[in-house]
Amino acid sequence: MSALAIIGGSGFNKLETLEIVRREVVHTPYGEPSAPITHGVFRGQDVVFLPRHGTAHTIPPHKVNYRANMWALKHIGVKHVIGVAAVGGIGPDMAPGVIAIPDQIIDYTYGRDHTYFENDLSHVTHIDFTEPYTDSLRERLIVAAHASQVAIVPHGVYGATQGPRLETAMEINRLDRDGCTLVGMTGMPETALARELGLDYACCAVVANWAAGRGDGPITMAEIEKYIGQGMSRVVCLIAALVGII
Ligand code: HPA
Repeated sequence: MSALAIIGGSGFNKLETLEIVRREVVHTPYGEPSAPITHGVFRGQDVVFLPRHGTAHTIPPHKVNYRANMWALKHIGVKHVIGVAAVGGIGPDMAPGVIAIPDQIIDYTYGRDHTYFENDLSHVTHIDFTEPYTDSLRERLIVAAHASQVAIVPHGVYGATQGPRLETAMEINRLDRDGCTLVGMTGMPETALARELGLDYACCAVVANWAAGRGDGPITMAEIEKYIGQGMSRVVCLIAALVGII
């Protein structure tokens, strides 16, 4: 069993060069995960892969069953999770094409099933979330980036918005004032659920566009797809270096 799982985001429905060994359907107390879990061998190491938006990319960010996804990974014995995600860039160092390893999150999502700690509790539980990402896993991603000569920005504040629409220019100004340097739609509750389950979790964010009002004119899907396409081959190099370290 692999200790490492990759959750693929938009444009990352499969892990290139993963030698697929088998697909596992996991039923969870929280419903069905986004897809069967793919077990495979990647650069000689066991890795599992789960496409966040489903195999055919049909599940929008607010409809992803984050609880089922994370529970399924925990259930099969995963210890470390890398969440790959497309994001918009807010900070001046977060131009389209950048790969960032965020270190903080602000949650603006609503109405999502965001916790395992709500029913049949023997006591009320509050996880510590001061540092939302697992530092040791972030560090290993950063080492892997240096080893594979993949340029990264080794920090970032991920503003998690509800979607599926993109933001208004004023919403982005507000996120900027709050300190967000990146904006995406899937970082929460995925990151918090990992912590509730005791899974190591880090995010590999691919900047696909300037956030609303920060670029020239409207944001187009063509632009987003172009930068995701370019970014994903570098993400694969980064993950290849990471599996060697883990
Ligand atoms: N906003 C929110 N999510 C995103 C964006 C964005 O600009 N780009 C890619 N995912």
